[in-house]
Amino acid sequence: MALVPYDSTAIWGMQKLHKSSSTFCFANHTIHIKQNWTQLGVAAVVWDAAVVLCTFLETGGIDLQGRMVIELGAGTGLLGIVAVLLGAQVTITDRKPTLTLLQSNVQANLPVNLQPRAAIKELTWGQDLADFPPGGYDIILGADIVYLEETFADLLQTLDYLCSDETVILLSCRLRYERDQTFLKMLRELFTVHVVFYDPGNDVHIFKAQRHVLKGDL
Ligand SMILES: C[S@@+](CC[C@H](N)C(=O)[O-])C[C@H]1O[C@@H](n2cnc3c(N)ncnc32)[C@H](O)[C@@H]1O
Repeated sequence: MALVPYDSTAIWGMQKLHKSSSTFCFANHTIHIKQNWTQLGVAAVVWDAAVVLCTFLETGGIDLQGRMVIELGAGTGLLGIVAVLLGAQVTITDRKPTLTLLQSNVQANLPVNLQPRAAIKELTWGQDLADFPPGGYDIILGADIVYLEETFADLLQTLDYLCSDETVILLSCRLRYERDQTFLKMLRELFTVHVVFYDPGNDVHIFKAQRHVLKGDL
């Protein structure tokens, strides 16, 4: 699977993706994120969906204090860094080629005393699952990870594996393609899904999903 799937010159308004770094302010910290579009493409730039979900978390969208969190498709790591700053213990994951940049952003932006609360791990959806505790997380985060149809079944399998009945999934998405609706339909087969936030300026939805409660359990 190509890491640089777009012809970047053809996409209007993507200049900010080509900057070698971006700066953000969350949880009373200035966060400098290194980007590298040329080498790593979509995984090495901060997407609006990540910024929108960081804002949602910072403004109390969900309490992260002391929670076990895993982030899927973390890219540069901004969202995972913010989740740690807001009090969570976070496993920040992505595919192998992205991990060096991810690690360096996490190290550069977390105070030394908070570094033990972040673990960087390889997780390609549908693979590597035995390295993670089934149902072992309170919260699963993902920003802009719904876009490749060939990954939808693996992503769903990964969410299913990582979720307990209590786990809350927060997916922040720009719905660009008709196929993205296919993923939401697949998600609704296993989970109860609600839109908890929509940012019209960035056209980003935040979906909250939790495993269906079976009627017999009520
Ligand atoms: C559009 S980027 C979003 C990055 C980051 N979450 C953000 O919003 O800034 C999509 C991310 O999903 C990851 N990804 C794509 N397919 C994947 C797969 N099969 N397994 C794990 N991660 C995958 C990419 O490596 C990339 O980091």
